[in-house]
Amino acid sequence: MASRDRRTFLGAAAAGIAGSLLSRRVPALRAQTDAATIEVLLDEPIGTIAPEIYGHFIEHLGGVIYDGVWVGEDSKIPNVGGVRKALVDEFRKIKPGVLRWPGGCFADSYDWHDGVGAPDKRPRRTDFWADNRPSGNRAATDGPQRFDPNRFGTNEFIRFCRLTGAAPYIAANVRSLPAKDFYQWVEYCNAPAGATTLSELRAAAGEPEPFGVRYWGVGNEPWGCGGNFTPEEYATEFRRYTAWVPKYGVPLKYIAAGPNGGDLSWTRGFFRQLTSRGSGALNDVYGWALHYYSGTTGDRNAIQFSTDDWYELIARADRMESLVTDHWTAMAESDPTHKVKLIVDEWGAWHGASPDMPPNYLWAYPGSLRDAVVAALTLDTFNRHADKIAMGAVAQLVNTIHSLFLAREDRFMVTPNYHVFAMYAPHQGGQSVRTVFSSPSIAMPRGARTQTLWGLAGSASRRDRELVVTVVNPHAADPRTCAIALRGASVRSARATVLTSSGGQAPPERTIDLRAHNSFDQPDALSPKEVAVTVASGSVRHTFPAASITRLDISLL
Ligand code: AHR
Repeated sequence: MASRDRRTFLGAAAAGIAGSLLSRRVPALRAQTDAATIEVLLDEPIGTIAPEIYGHFIEHLGGVIYDGVWVGEDSKIPNVGGVRKALVDEFRKIKPGVLRWPGGCFADSYDWHDGVGAPDKRPRRTDFWADNRPSGNRAATDGPQRFDPNRFGTNEFIRFCRLTGAAPYIAANVRSLPAKDFYQWVEYCNAPAGATTLSELRAAAGEPEPFGVRYWGVGNEPWGCGGNFTPEEYATEFRRYTAWVPKYGVPLKYIAAGPNGGDLSWTRGFFRQLTSRGSGALNDVYGWALHYYSGTTGDRNAIQFSTDDWYELIARADRMESLVTDHWTAMAESDPTHKVKLIVDEWGAWHGASPDMPPNYLWAYPGSLRDAVVAALTLDTFNRHADKIAMGAVAQLVNTIHSLFLAREDRFMVTPNYHVFAMYAPHQGGQSVRTVFSSPSIAMPRGARTQTLWGLAGSASRRDRELVVTVVNPHAADPRTCAIALRGASVRSARATVLTSSGGQAPPERTIDLRAHNSFDQPDALSPKEVAVTVASGSVRHTFPAASITRLDISLL
């Protein structure tokens, strides 16, 4: 039976605040109905959507830094002080809230001293990811991706942040450097001009004024590459690393390395140990950083996949909803007033490398509409939990995993993920308000069982008389017509922007290509379009195309 036939709409199911993926037996599949509504409860605020939720991540991994971000001052590739100009220009447009560096796993093998001082004196070091190069032509996989020349260090990172408006977030090494090096990195970045030897070293490189870095990660994935700690051991290290750090008037915000996906025992173990000598220790934790990758499907190909793979990946990404609420609940066992907020500083789908990109760039691929849906539903989840989530960082910015950009020498393009971040940027700083999505669920047979996926999900935020509603329709074939009812105001006017391969038209006018993606040759194959919205009697009616992401900009009366 064709996937399209097997995948039938169930009866209307209210997705509530969160679209939910349930695993359960479904007695009988009912035919598609049109009954779908989105209610926006303008008088039920959730919290301000921190701009830092729209955060990013760069690591010395494959082609991320060399050649994604850093091309060098003498490069024929247009650059701003060595940083790829096209990247700066596009990245700043989406208002990045924060940028995390230098890892990832790389962070716990990085000595920051290697990346400061005269560039031609900096040592070359074996990159953490060196042994992840593919088999085959060894010579082809060497280069700065394998033996890091340290040309991109702290000053260059700060330069990139300044150029793009992102707040710097530095992840410190806990596995292989003592706490003293952490304090000294803070000193290098934040000590006043001329105050210490390290601030003079910074000044010698043309940066007399302090960088004022606020966000500091204390290690990365200590349950794995960050040291194979137990949560209790890591909590002790965290307390030690944060016990005395020079402040220089900067309100430092320490980020503790949280769980891998659903590992609640990591969360419970850390918080219990941290607070074992009193709850005061919670004051030193700004955020608890969860990592969750929704993985890949089938043969790991980012742009060749089946309709079943489409749903499978979306369903896995949707797990973010329960990860947020489950860890939040577990944190409350030791932190009942929720002093510590949740951070998700690595997330995304993770496919195999594209044969069109150099193998030593590791997981570099263009991504597809499917990845854009993953990005959109994840950002919607963060928006709906604006009271809990202080920061996010998609992994990673360029040339690896869930990237927004692909760059190879003088070629550069944006992926569909980029368009999602651009479309969702107006949510930043808005007041998240409660929404109720009611729409027929999608049934997904899984052997003897059937899973259901919500029919529509999204989020809404408000700033004065402007409302932004973002909506994902994950159905691979069917559009969904829907009334959008505002509780607490009515609509003056509305505009819509849609990202979908059918150009916003219902079939049969345009076919739907779930695998739609951009390439160096066709960089605009998939990009957002403005579409008409129907406003009648103070409310909105809209058809959300199959396999689409939509932003509605609504002016309120
Ligand atoms: O983002 C790639 C890697 O995934 C990071 O280095 C690590 O933290 C995670 O396991």
